Amino acid sequence: MDIGIDAIGFYTPHYYVDLVKLAKARGDDPDKYTIGIGQDQMAVTPATQDIISMAANAVDALPSARLDGRLGMVIVASESGVDESKAAAITVARLTGLNPWVRAFDIKEACYGATAGLLMARDYVAAHPTKTALVIASDIARYGLASGGEVTQGAGAVAMVISAQPRVLALQDDAVAYTEDIPDFFRPTGMTVPVVDGHYSTAAYLNFVTKIVGQHQVQYHDTITDYAALLFHLPFTKMGKKALAALTDSVRLGQRLTAASQLSRQVGNIYTGSLYLSLLSLLCHDKTMQAGDRIGLFSYGSGAVGEFFSGILAPGFADHIGQAAVIQLLAEREELTIPAYEQMFNDQLPLGDAAAALPAEQSTARFTVGGRRDHARWYRDTTKSMTEGD
Ligand code: HMG
Repeated sequence: MDIGIDAIGFYTPHYYVDLVKLAKARGDDPDKYTIGIGQDQMAVTPATQDIISMAANAVDALPSARLDGRLGMVIVASESGVDESKAAAITVARLTGLNPWVRAFDIKEACYGATAGLLMARDYVAAHPTKTALVIASDIARYGLASGGEVTQGAGAVAMVISAQPRVLALQDDAVAYTEDIPDFFRPTGMTVPVVDGHYSTAAYLNFVTKIVGQHQVQYHDTITDYAALLFHLPFTKMGKKALAALTDSVRLGQRLTAASQLSRQVGNIYTGSLYLSLLSLLCHDKTMQAGDRIGLFSYGSGAVGEFFSGILAPGFADHIGQAAVIQLLAEREELTIPAYEQMFNDQLPLGDAAAALPAEQSTARFTVGGRRDHARWYRDTTKSMTEGD
């Protein structure tokens, strides 16, 4: 029985910064950002978006027929949540009007969380083939103004329906995971930006990729040439290039990685969703990919957990990735000046539970944060006439 990704929906905030302009403002050579790091633009999150509204907007980008009564599990993976206790998945399920007869919960392990969710959803559907699951990766990557990681910030959400009739990617039962307790990147409770040792983290990532892909080859007797494309978690797109170079010098895989990096170049690091944004990018930008092609996916979450697994492209996959909506979403974004970005960066809903009201966001996003009352955030839904709290 094939089990895998049946549809993909994507959301990223309405605002972005041009990284050539950011480089100039920071006194850096723009080539460092666009070539050395491999990023062109970076999504900027207004106070009116958080990981719940972004997740709900990504779900809204899915074909609604895929979210019918068969849905049995809703998982949100995030490392930038807004509550220490209640799962974002519960609010996302309510906002998007999902069938309430579901198991809804969140998963956390840095950028790896969505892969844990995806593979858990795969096992769930394997045990209950008439059921489906919804896995949503939603994150805001913040390192701080003028910090070393600033150019690798970003924000967005990827929603994936998992079913026993996968119309995008059939997940193979070949995952190899590895865990090692390392201090490359972490965010102690109460801190708004992570503690990160950037160069150590890139070295750790590369160590994981060679170790895990090597172990996969031992366990499953495969070689790099078995893959039509290799995808990686992309904290910045140069990281993917480094990972591929550590495994192979294949020109064909290099070209496909370039296609798989296009969306990340425009959006930045979206933590849990970055690997799946890369899959979306490959399917949107490389017209030579065909049904039956085998894709290898490498997931990495600091701390650290890594996993490598593969999937087989399904016939007609291009009709189930919402490509037109992705193009439109990016085309309609608004560029911010550097001072406007800095203002928006600082102008966030403070942590805690103090009451606050935010003005409506001037964008086409269906779901936005309205503010906070009775200790909890509330959300606007543009499709409802009564917006408060709904
Ligand atoms: P940095 O010190 O600003 O940059 O840190 P650099 O000096 O290392 O330069 C970066 C690259 O630009 C180098 O290329 C330079 O040579 C090149 P490389 O040697 O690496 O191939 N360069 C130039 N190229 C062209 N023209 C020029 C020029 N100047 C320099 N003029 C760093 C960069 C990525 C470390 C920093 O931005 C950072 O700390 N980012 C955040 C951490 C991160 O993204 N780590 C990635 C691995 S860990 C991970 O993926 C997990 C994560 O997503 C979190 C999670 O799991 O939750 C982060």
